[in-house]
Amino acid sequence: MRSSLVRSRRMGSVVEAVGQTPLLRLRSVGREAPSVEIYVKLEFANPGGSVKDRAALRMMTKAIEAGSLGDDKTLIDSTSGNTGVAYSLFGAALGVKVALVMPSNVSKARKDIARAFGTEVIFSDPMEGSDGAIRKVREIVEASPERYYYPDQYSNPHNPLAHYHGTAAEILDAVGDRITHFVAGIGTSGTIMGTSRRLREHHRPIRCVAVEPTEALHGLEGLKHLPSSLVPPIHSEAGYDETFRVTTEDGWDMSDRLAREEALHVGHSTGANVFAALEIAKKLHREQGGGCVVAIACDRGDRYFAPMKWEKKYLW
Ligand SMILES: Cc1ncc(COP(=O)(O)O)c(C=O)c1O
Repeated sequence: MRSSLVRSRRMGSVVEAVGQTPLLRLRSVGREAPSVEIYVKLEFANPGGSVKDRAALRMMTKAIEAGSLGDDKTLIDSTSGNTGVAYSLFGAALGVKVALVMPSNVSKARKDIARAFGTEVIFSDPMEGSDGAIRKVREIVEASPERYYYPDQYSNPHNPLAHYHGTAAEILDAVGDRITHFVAGIGTSGTIMGTSRRLREHHRPIRCVAVEPTEALHGLEGLKHLPSSLVPPIHSEAGYDETFRVTTEDGWDMSDRLAREEALHVGHSTGANVFAALEIAKKLHREQGGGCVVAIACDRGDRYFAPMKWEKKYLW
């Protein structure tokens, strides 16, 4: 085993630390499909701790370049999750003011992370959930459009493009000659749409699989159950090859397994992605005797230690 404590990337800004995330082979979980290589792309190694850093950074830098986000404007959006952390972090790094609207009942930890970077936190009605937060952002922006820049990650093309130019290019660089399958969950769908688009341009066929929760009411935070949700404008089913549905229980159980067997303490959307990747790998092992599956590890498990109300039954 190779180990080095002197691997340093010198950089002038935290912004440069986004991307070039490790691709890790799952040796223990992968024993169930011994002829297949299973890898996870460790997106939690980004400075904001999640796969959303790439999208948030690209949306922000492109808006700054286009002149729609300057000193006179505040970036505003309605997320208390990973995108909110990323906006807050890069807001501090780039000198951009950030405001996030979130239902007042989100956990204290989530409010505190945003505020730590200097982000203004605006509360929406807790009874109206995330839809209420979206409505409130729209009202605020409509009332003073000159003051705000609203990136709208669900329809912003720079969200998938961050993965087209980043995530996918890095995967091809690492295993482009071998990869047969790619697996990512659908939140805004930026990761699956952008990465799949680039992987499909590769000279060898790569099957791209989107992971969705089986149930409308689920505990796989970050993932969307599309049949019961507003479909993001950047999403198109034609953008990938297959949908794989995962139950909350299977996603959570795989998160536990990853911590114990692979020393990867990851969130539940990663558990769902790896559950799907392993099922695909087992089928490949049975039917084809080989393959190479790459799944996205979206964020770390410790982000869920301070649960939101509906996550309360989950205690580590
Ligand atoms: C934990 C987690 N997993 C997965 C996703 C899905 O990523 P995307 O929005 O690119 O579809 C998100 C998005 O917010 C997330 O926070």
